[in-house]
Formats: sequence, structure tokens, C-alpha cells
Amino acid sequence: MISQAAALQFILLLSYFPFHYSSEDFIFNGFKQAGNQLTLAGSTKMTTDGLLQLTDDTTGILGHAFFSSPIPMIIPNKNVSEVISFSTSFILDILTVNKAGGHGLTFAIASSKQLPGADVADYLGLLGPSNNGNISNHIFAVEFDHVKTTVLLNETNANHVGVDLNSVKSDASQNAAYYTNQNSKVEFQLESGQPIQAWINYNGTNKMLDITIAPIPIPKPSRALISYHVDLIPIFEKEMYVGFTSSTGKLASSHYIIAWSFSNEGLAQAIDLSQLPKFPHPPGTITVSRSEVIRIGLLSTVVTLTVLAILFGVSLYLWQRAKLAETIEDWEREHPHRLPYKDLYRATKGFKETEILGTGGFGHVYKGVLPKTKEMVAIKKISNNARQGMREFVAEISSLGRMKHRNLVELRGWCKRNQDLLLVYEFMTNGSLDALLFNRNKETRIILTWEQRLNILKGVASGLLYLHEEWEQQVVHRDIKSSNVLLGPDLNAKLGDFGLARLYEHGTNPHTTHVVGTLGYMAPELSYTGKATTSSDVFAFGMLVLEVVCGRRPIENDAPTDELNLLEWVRDCEVQGHLMKVVDLCIANECDNQEVEMVLKLGLVCCQSIAEVRPSVRQVIQYLNGTEQLPDDLKLVYLNPGSMSFAAQKSFPWSYGSADLSRQLFPSYGTVSVGSLQGGR
Ligand SMILES: *[C@@H]1O[C@H](CO)[C@@H](O)[C@H](O)[C@H]1NC(C)=O
Ligand SMILES: *[C@@H]1O[C@H](CO)[C@@H](O)[C@H](O)[C@H]1NC(C)=O
Ligand SMILES: *[C@@H]1O[C@H](CO)[C@@H](O)[C@H](O)[C@H]1NC(C)=O
Ligand SMILES: *[C@@H]1O[C@H](CO)[C@@H](O)[C@H](O)[C@H]1NC(C)=O
Repeated sequence: MISQAAALQFILLLSYFPFHYSSEDFIFNGFKQAGNQLTLAGSTKMTTDGLLQLTDDTTGILGHAFFSSPIPMIIPNKNVSEVISFSTSFILDILTVNKAGGHGLTFAIASSKQLPGADVADYLGLLGPSNNGNISNHIFAVEFDHVKTTVLLNETNANHVGVDLNSVKSDASQNAAYYTNQNSKVEFQLESGQPIQAWINYNGTNKMLDITIAPIPIPKPSRALISYHVDLIPIFEKEMYVGFTSSTGKLASSHYIIAWSFSNEGLAQAIDLSQLPKFPHPPGTITVSRSEVIRIGLLSTVVTLTVLAILFGVSLYLWQRAKLAETIEDWEREHPHRLPYKDLYRATKGFKETEILGTGGFGHVYKGVLPKTKEMVAIKKISNNARQGMREFVAEISSLGRMKHRNLVELRGWCKRNQDLLLVYEFMTNGSLDALLFNRNKETRIILTWEQRLNILKGVASGLLYLHEEWEQQVVHRDIKSSNVLLGPDLNAKLGDFGLARLYEHGTNPHTTHVVGTLGYMAPELSYTGKATTSSDVFAFGMLVLEVVCGRRPIENDAPTDELNLLEWVRDCEVQGHLMKVVDLCIANECDNQEVEMVLKLGLVCCQSIAEVRPSVRQVIQYLNGTEQLPDDLKLVYLNPGSMSFAAQKSFPWSYGSADLSRQLFPSYGTVSVGSLQGGR
């Protein structure tokens, strides 16, 4: 009785899930245990180390490896048939003995495991001259092709990833590259011998195919290399086979798959990098025993190679040691937070290009993991400057290292090597404010809400207050701008690069003042006093405020002429009584107009031309928090450029209102005009 009831329940339960199909979800961290789960053909073999070798470097061969069981790819029982979402991830490695190898490999989904008609070279072991482009092929593939075939396939790059639908002529393709979190594209070579991880996800509902690749051990980039909208219904049959194909032509390389996971229900399992088999040997050491001719000379070759390898190893060691050696001057030992160059070199994989997070006025910033603490950091490398000023600067930097505030990026340490200065900062997961604010890429764009923007401004102001008033000595930041505002995990803002501008000033001749700052954020007095003050920081903060509220840069060259200069535009709109016109369209609907208007006016108040009339950061914070109100009859002071006679007038062409205030106060700068903000709020 009981078992009958249970059976009935089971049947009832089944009927709740009308669209069930058998799901497939597998992972091979190396293929040692794969056995007959994979069907191999052509040149493909399993190495004793558990690598799937699709081709070796023989010319003109092809190989296949498919998961042996067919996999359901269409959701049954739906009125309109729909492709199942699928997801796969794998690690490939292409080794080339000669300078240029060929041809490439594909991840393929096909209606059969046999692939009749498949050919070598450009056809990648997937298709051939007899069937390339035929719609009854039912073949989908993602190709990793390292030969440019211009005539037949119209390829423009010798190192690319492409989407192939029934044809090896790709429907979409991109040079091999990945995007950093800062959205910069880093290209790399498929056939360099380094293992590369690929992630391919297809969403059957919105029909988006995302392909992402990155050299190991870079984690999966958040932006895909290729995002392609494609309906796979015409390609897929009810059941398909998934696997890999590869070929060589006149040019040849060894093509390996090291690990593979696949799922047709949700995300493919993550490949465990710690469980992988040994990567294939780099070229040059593997091919010795292959031919009879070489076998005869084997012994002498081995001996020669060994001697060379030892010599090479020794010189590499000596060279490496010399490269990482440091000469530490006595004074350097006096300053805390000094980190060994060796550690920073290791952390950034030798300051490799792929580790670059971004590039600023001071030099490259690298991402790295400190070898001892395993802590993720950002390392700023400043090269070739300030020959005399280094010592003073290091003294200052190491004292800044003692600063601790929740709105300042923490300096973890520093290192000087020859003329390079390396500064190690805490790693900020959400990158810089400008990257977030001005990201025009629809897919990766995160739109900051008004509340988040206001919080960011409050955070920056509070960091700045600490620099100006709360630390043991007054620090002028000198380079406040959106790219120096970094965002942590909850979008909490931290100010970076404080004090850095001093490096340039220390180094220069005291008789010629060298002004540091960024065009658009520089207070007008800087161009004649050359002296950064807390008021010039407030000016720059005012520009930042306008930037954040309006969602555009201080100077935008492709804006209409009257909107070119943000400050001028906001001020004109204010005078004409439609201040709200300048607010970023992304937030215009959701925000509290009164609050936005107050913040905009505060931005204008900070950006006044005369340093003495700008508020202090402490006052700015009181306005932002609403503990103090902006006066209703605010008077704003701007320079009238009419009689300015030097080049800077182009950057600050401001005139405002009509009341002539004090020619005497600022005689060399012509008329000073005062205007009042439209009364009331
Ligand atoms: C599917 O077809 C059935 C019967 O033909 C119809 O009642 C139902 O509304 C259809 N569903 C959809 C989602 O089109
Ligand atoms: C496409 O392939 C089918 C089946 O193999 C074949 O019958 C047909 O002739 C081919 N079409 C072309 C244009 O080659
Ligand atoms: C070749 O590719 C270019 C762009 O990459 C495209 O404009 C052109 O139409 C293509 N030609 C053919 C014959 O497909
Ligand atoms: C596919 O896209 C739809 C709509 O964008 C989304 O709701 C769904 O979660 C996605 N499915 C998968 C498996 O990512």
C-alpha cells in the first residue's frame, strides 16, 4: 500500500515539471579518468599525463574529440522550440616549434561525431571544401585560429577567435584579447605556448552568445570578448554532440585541451586550476625522439642541450639575481613601509603588460598579489623623474603611509629602484569613478543612482577634510579628479594619489614653478601663483561635483560649443533659470530635485574664480549633509576674461552678471564680475 502511494506521489511530482529533459553536466580536470566518455578520431590522442592532444606538430593532419553521448539541445514540449542554454569552459594550449604555427582548434557542437568532409589547414578539421557553408551541416563552432586566411575566409587577423555557423568563415570574430576591470583591451597570442582558459555561454532565452578568453591565471574577465546575438534554432537538432576539432596545414602546432567542463543546465562547473595535469612541455624539448634521423644523433644532442641548458640556467639565474638586486641607500632604511623590489616584481609577474590595470599621468598601475601576505594590491610604477627630489619625496610618502581614513586609499608600502618609484596601494574592487561614470558600453555599464553619487561626493569630501584639517600636518591633494576617486565593494569612495603631485614639484628648478594638475580641474589662480592650496583643492572638488551630477567631463570636446566647458555651461543654465537641464539624464527622473539643485549650486560655489571666497571643505560637508543651508542670495565671483591677456584665458572664458566688483583687487586680471544665484531654492 505504502509503496503504491509513494509511486503515485512520484508520478504526480513528475507531472509538475512539464519540460524535463536529461541534463548533462560534466567536468574533466585533466583527462586521465576520461576513458570511453570521449570518442577520439584522427590524430587525437590522450597523453600519459592526461592531456588531450588534438594534433601534434606534424603538417597536414586533423583530429577530433567528442563527448561520447549525445546531449539534448532543444527544449521539448514547447509550442515554439527553443535552444537549451548551455555553458562550457576549457583550457587550451597551443605549442609551436617553429616560429609560426598553424592552424587552430575549435569547440564544436555538431549533429554527428564523424564530421564527414572535414579537412585540414583552414578548415580546422571541422568542415571541408565540399560542405563549407552548407546549411544542412548543423554545425556550430567557436574557432581559435592562429593563421590569417585572407582569400578564402576574409580573415583580417592571424590571431583570432570567431563564431562559426555551418562554415569556417566566421560570422563574428575578434582578435584574441581580454578586457580588464578597467575595460581596457589586452591582446595576447594564442600560440605563445601559455595555457588559455575559455568560457562560452549561450542563453537560449535571449539568444546571447558570450565568449571570454584569458591567459591563465587571470580570473574570468567580467566583460566578454565577443557578445553575439544569434538564434541557434536553425543549427541545432534535438540532440547534438559536443567536442573539439583541430588541424594543421603547411604550418603546424601541437594543440592541446587540458581541462573541460560543460553543462546544459546553468553554469558549467569551475575548473580547478590546482588539479590540472602538468602543462605540455614548451617547444624545443619534446620532438627529439620522433624521427629516426634524430634518434641517431640523440645522445650528442642531449649532451649539448644539457650543457646549454645548464649554461643558460646559470646565466638566467645570475641575470635574474642582478635584475632583482637592490642598492639600498642608508636613508632609505630610516623610512618604514619599504617593500623589497623582488616581492613587487613577483607580484606583478615581472611588471607584465597583462597585469596593467590602468595608466595615469604618473605611469602604469599594475595589479598584483604580494607573495608573502597573498594580499591583492595595486602597484603604481613611477619612472624617470625627480632625480634630485626622490629623497624628500620618499620621506613624505612614507609619512603619508601612516595616514588612515576610510575615504583615503591606503598606502601599503613603497620601494625605490634606480629612478623608479613603486607605490603599493590597497586594491579597489570597483575601479575608478571616471571609468564607471563614463563607461559608454551598454553591456558592462553600471548606472550610479543619485543616492550613490551623493554618497561618493560625501566620501570624497570627508577624505579631503582629513587631508586638509584632521591629520597632523596639512596636506594639499593637488590632483582631485574623477579618475583619482576609487570605489570599493559597496561603492564607498576613496581618494587616491594624494601628495603625489609633490614629486614633480620637488624635482624641478625652484625658479620656474611647475604647476601640476589636470586641465579642467585647475583653479584659475594656479596659472599665476603656481601654488596649490586647500582652496585650489576645493575648486577641483567643485568640478568633481558638477561632473558627478551632470555625468560628463569638465571639458568635452565633442559637445556643442556652448556646452564645451562644463562649468561655463552649468553657470549659463543657472543664470538663465533652468539649472536642472544639466543633470545627467540617467538620474534626472529618480532624484530629489531640491537636493540636486543644492548640490549643483554648491559645485558652482566651490568653483568661484577667487580663492578667498570659496568655502572650506568643512563648510562643504555641512552643506552636503544639510546641517547648514546655502544662503539664498549667494553671490558668485567669476573673472571676466575680457581684459585677460594671457593664454589661460581660453581655458577660463568666464563672465557672469554685470556688477563690476574690484578691479583694484585683481588688477592684472581685468574685470571681476559678481552675480547672484537666482534667489530662493
Ligand atoms: C501552446 O499551445 C496551446 C494549444 O495549442 C495553447 O493553448 C497555448 O496558449 C500555447 N502556449 C503558448 C505559450 O503559446
Ligand atoms: C548540402 O548538403 C546536402 C546534404 O549533404 C546536399 O544534399 C546538398 O546538395 C548540399 N548543398 C550544397 C549547395 O552543396
Ligand atoms: C570581409 O570583411 C570585411 C570586414 O571585415 C567586410 O566589410 C567585407 O564585406 C567582407 N567581405 C566578404 C566577401 O565577406
Ligand atoms: C537568459 O536571459 C534571460 C533574459 O535576459 C534571463 O532572465 C535568464 O536568467 C538567462 N538565463 C541564463 C541561463 O542565464
